[in-house]
Amino acid sequence: MSNNEVKKYSAKELAGMSNEELARIGTELDEVTVAFRKERFPVEGDPAEKRAERTVTIWFALAAVFALAFMATYIWWPWEYKGHGQEGLGIYSLYTPMLGLTMGLSILSLGFGLTLFQKKFVPEEISVQRRHDGPSDEVDRQTLVALLNDSWETSTLGRRKMLKGIAGTSAALAGLAIIFPLGGMIKNPWKKKEGPLDYFGDGTLWTSGWTKANEGTKIYLGRDTSAIAEKHGEHFSTVGVTRLVRMRPEDLSAAAMETVFPLYEEDVNDGDQYDEKRDVYEMHMHSIHGPRNAVMLIRLRSADADKVIEREGQEDFHYGDYYAYSKICTHIGCPTSLYEAQTNRILCPCHQSQFDALRYGKPLFGPAARALPQLPITVDEEGYLVAAGNFIEPVGPAFWERKS
Ligand code: FES
Repeated sequence: MSNNEVKKYSAKELAGMSNEELARIGTELDEVTVAFRKERFPVEGDPAEKRAERTVTIWFALAAVFALAFMATYIWWPWEYKGHGQEGLGIYSLYTPMLGLTMGLSILSLGFGLTLFQKKFVPEEISVQRRHDGPSDEVDRQTLVALLNDSWETSTLGRRKMLKGIAGTSAALAGLAIIFPLGGMIKNPWKKKEGPLDYFGDGTLWTSGWTKANEGTKIYLGRDTSAIAEKHGEHFSTVGVTRLVRMRPEDLSAAAMETVFPLYEEDVNDGDQYDEKRDVYEMHMHSIHGPRNAVMLIRLRSADADKVIEREGQEDFHYGDYYAYSKICTHIGCPTSLYEAQTNRILCPCHQSQFDALRYGKPLFGPAARALPQLPITVDEEGYLVAAGNFIEPVGPAFWERKS
């Protein structure tokens, strides 16, 4: 920064200088020429200065108020989903716009406040500086600090206590408003929801649509037909549309994999139980949308099935050559969608974890450290594939409750 012709100062000399002197030397050392400088309010007690201070204060106060309004909206505004025709739909649909509006106005007000402050109080100045290569000398570093101090002093913010307070408060609240929504990601994993078990389990993270309410509950392995609502005249209807159907072992060829979802006995509407007047579509979609419900049903080639090494306690979880593993990756929960029949590996496309389908879904490669939970399966008296019990460990990313 500094050139060699400028006088060198000892540490003692520098320590004895005032901030003003250091700032002046810093300007010279940096070869800065102040071409123009004008104080905004050269006369003390200028009424225009008071007015300017009030205006800036109002903007900062508005920023704080809108940030608080954002937080209040986030906590208290009715946010739970309301469908068409349901009471409270109007107010619910304003939830997201209100969040955007209050957050936007808070940041905008803060921006106005800062811009106005700069325009009204920081001296007008035009400076020109030549630039140099190489590192800075000690004197440059010290004088830079002095220059920054000088900027703080000349900005007059230091002596405007009220303005300083409100600016700090509004900046802190606007910052808080930005990180506040992270609170929505915090969930109590032990908290059960009210009501019976359903396709979302009981609300805790270690239950799913496969969790049986009691021994007698029958849950089929449901194949997703991708059926959607059908048009009847002017309107679409889901009456008589079956999204999930029961599967028999012969529906899957050897060396194939299919994603299946839990299908409760009372929601079956296919085959000999089909009723064109029934509407089970919503329940089937709940099953598909259950975050821990997707299961990979794999039919191994018989030659490969002979090589399977069962995990202790899971010896009877398979049905013949059929194995069912949770599709939720034990790393951070992506769907482990790829099954490579040649190697019998299950691949997660997110971070390339690989699991061995011949060894109880044990991880072989990648960041996942735990085996894919295995769902016990069998066939019922009619020959349909059903769950023979619950997962014996939580589904999904690493839980401290997991022993393996
Ligand atoms: S989520 Fe599967 S490897 Fe990361």
